[in-house]
Amino acid sequence: MPNNTAEIRSVSVDDTMVTVTWGDDQQSRFHGLWLRDNCACEACGPHDRGSRLQRLLDIPDDIAPVTASVDGAALRIVWPGADTHVSDFDPAWLRAHAYSPRSVLESHNPVRTMWDGSLSEWPAVEWDRVLSDDAERHRLHASVSEVGFVLVRGLGTGHDGIEKLAEEVGYLRETHYGKFFDLITRPNPVILADLAGTLLPHTDEAYRRVPTGINMFHCLKASTNGGVSQLVDAFSVATQLKEQHPDAFELLTRVPVRHERRTEDQIITSDLPAIVLDHDGEIIEVRLNERTMTAICVDEELMAPTYAALRTAFRIAYDPANMIEYLMQPGDALLFDNLRVLHARTGYTGERHIRQCQVMRDEFFARGVSLGEKVNAPRSVLS
Ligand SMILES: [Fe+2]
Ligand SMILES: [Zn+2]
Repeated sequence: MPNNTAEIRSVSVDDTMVTVTWGDDQQSRFHGLWLRDNCACEACGPHDRGSRLQRLLDIPDDIAPVTASVDGAALRIVWPGADTHVSDFDPAWLRAHAYSPRSVLESHNPVRTMWDGSLSEWPAVEWDRVLSDDAERHRLHASVSEVGFVLVRGLGTGHDGIEKLAEEVGYLRETHYGKFFDLITRPNPVILADLAGTLLPHTDEAYRRVPTGINMFHCLKASTNGGVSQLVDAFSVATQLKEQHPDAFELLTRVPVRHERRTEDQIITSDLPAIVLDHDGEIIEVRLNERTMTAICVDEELMAPTYAALRTAFRIAYDPANMIEYLMQPGDALLFDNLRVLHARTGYTGERHIRQCQVMRDEFFARGVSLGEKVNAPRSVLS
């Protein structure tokens, strides 16, 4: 973005609307009510600390500025009423929150770069540098936000390595697996991941309503004879489904697909659609795991199309053209967003030790956003 985007060239008022012309010649229109509601003067209080004093219902429905002018760099608005309330808006704040035109609104969205099997290199950061350099630390969080995963290299092979990593990037999430879980070949396997057979691309813990977190795998002992880690971009899978089979896509955003997991003292179930969209129709969560799916419960006339749509989605998800792979080395950690990326593993016959945990998702991404502001990071980690 050119650096004059947050410069206000001129401003005009038309009834209740304020039009700002920016340094890059874009024009944004703002409603009087929106501006008055977003006043952050001392009396109205800040709007990013949970301590706003301004009450929405105290503002007249039809509020319109008396004047709008550029004062220094700020946009100054004088409001009607005996108290002659004045609002000063920082142009950078105003541009960052502008909602017109549509291109400006869209520029606020986080960058998501979709990929397939042709992605040549896994985004990676060095553990030493993460600890000493905020730009590297930001790249760790931003890579997971943008492409869904990142490799951390040089974590060593200490048993507590993953705990140190978790502490640096978020808050540990404890589940029925405990805080940490060792994926090692065992003589009497408890869950399927303990077996050394092939694991197809899947979402972990799809049976939970509260989204599972950022998954972290730390390699203490590399696999011998197989055991290659594989990833699939689930947003790309959903997008391919949307383009090639729009009816199937639409159905999977709407029908519940039940997943279930029984433990000693819990029966955990979820009835969420396989694909979750946001207010704008953008894909924000994907849940695909045929191992944890249980009896699907939808209207009779939707059963056949639901199965057909799921089978189509799994075909795309399992297509090798969508998959990337990497044999984790001792000291590597893989972090991925479980609702963005499907993970898989080839079968193996030798030894392997992966230590696993999760950190909570919101906090992980929130730290990334804060670091991005601190280091003034580029929009894309790939650029
Ligand atoms: Fe898994
Ligand atoms: Zn105010």
